[in-house]
Amino acid sequence: MRIAVVFDTPNDGWEDEDFKREVEAEVEEPEYEVAEALMVLEHEVLLVGVHDDLQHMFNRLREFQPNLVFNCAEAFHERPRLDYIFPAFFEAEGYRYTGSPPFALTTTRNKAMSKKVLAYHGVRVPGFVTYHATEEVTQAPDLTFPLIVKPLQEDASVGIAMASVVQEVDALTERVHFIHENFSQPAIAEEYIEGRELYVSILGNGDNLQILPIIEMVFDKQRTKPEERIATKLAKWDTEYRERKGIKNVFARPISGRARAAIEETCQTAFRALWLRDYARLDLRLAPDGGVWVIEVNANPYLSFGHDTANAAEKAGMDYYALIRRIVDEAMKRYEHQT
Ligand SMILES: Nc1ncnc2c1ncn2[C@@H]1O[C@H](COP(=O)(O)OP(=O)(O)O)[C@@H](O)[C@H]1O
Ligand SMILES: [Mg+2]
Repeated sequence: MRIAVVFDTPNDGWEDEDFKREVEAEVEEPEYEVAEALMVLEHEVLLVGVHDDLQHMFNRLREFQPNLVFNCAEAFHERPRLDYIFPAFFEAEGYRYTGSPPFALTTTRNKAMSKKVLAYHGVRVPGFVTYHATEEVTQAPDLTFPLIVKPLQEDASVGIAMASVVQEVDALTERVHFIHENFSQPAIAEEYIEGRELYVSILGNGDNLQILPIIEMVFDKQRTKPEERIATKLAKWDTEYRERKGIKNVFARPISGRARAAIEETCQTAFRALWLRDYARLDLRLAPDGGVWVIEVNANPYLSFGHDTANAAEKAGMDYYALIRRIVDEAMKRYEHQT
C-alpha cells in the first residue's frame, strides 16, 4: 500500500527525503519508528511532517494519494489539544487514517469532558471541579481533599509535580492560579485516588478488543507518602530522577482475578463510550479496595519503540513490526466494513 505517515515536527520546510535520513539514522521518534516499520513491511511510505503549514500537508497528500494515512501527529503548534485537526483534515479530504476520530481526540484531551462521558456509562472516575481561566477559587469545592490540580488539556504530565496535590483550599487556590498563569487554559481539580498506577493499552475495534498486558509504574523507595506516588513530569521522563526514586514501568505485579476482570470491563466500556479506534491507552488507578478508577484516557498514546504500548504488545507476542501491522490492519478492516 501507499501509506503516508503524518506527524508534527519542529523541522520547518523538511521533505520526505530529509525525514528519511532521520529514519535511516534511527532517530528515536515514534513517527520515524513507525515509518521504518512500514517500510520493512514493504509499504511505499511518504513522511509528511507538519510544522505550522497545513497547506504543505494538503499538497503532499494530494500528490501522493495514499491508500492510508498513519496518523502520528500529537500536537499542532505544540498544543496537544489541537491534535484533532489532523483527523478532521483527513476526514474532510476523504483519506483513510489510523486511530481515533476528531470527536474522540477533543473529548479525551479534555480531562473533565471525558470523565463526564465515562460517568454516564458507569465507569468510576474521581470527582472533580474545573476553573476557567478567569475563575478564582472562591470557596472549598464539595470534594474530599487531598485534590490533585492539573491543566485541563495537557499530556505527558506537563504541569504535574508534587505540588499538584493539595491538602486544603489555600494551596488549591495557589495551584489553580499557577495553572492559569503558566498554561493559559482551565484547571481541573480532582479527588486524589490512592492506589496502584496502571497503564493499559487496547487494540482493536467494536467487539474485538484486545487488552494488552498491564504496565505498572512502581515507586520502590520505601518512605514515600501515597500522594507522592504519582506520575509527575520528572517521574515519567527524567531517567536520573527515576533511578534515584526507584521509579520504574514494569509489567504489573500480581493483580487479583476480580480486579483484572474489572480492569478489562472498564477498558471495554471506556473504549466504546469515547469512540476510540484501533489503539488507545488508559491510565488507571487500582485502589486498595479493588476499585478501578479511570484517571485519563489517551486516544493518541505514545507509540514509540520501547515505551509502554509497544512493550505491552511485545509481551503479548507482537514485536514492533507486528504492532504497526496490526494497527494498519485494524484501520483497513474498519474502512472495508464501511463500504
Ligand atoms: N485523580 C487522581 N488521583 C491520583 N493520581 C492522579 C490523579 N490524576 C492524576 N494523577 C497522577 O498524575 C499523573 C498524570 O495525570 P494524567 O491525568 O494522566 O495527566 P497526563 O495527561 O499528563 O498524563 C497520573 O498518571 C497519576 O499518577
Ligand atoms: Mg496520563
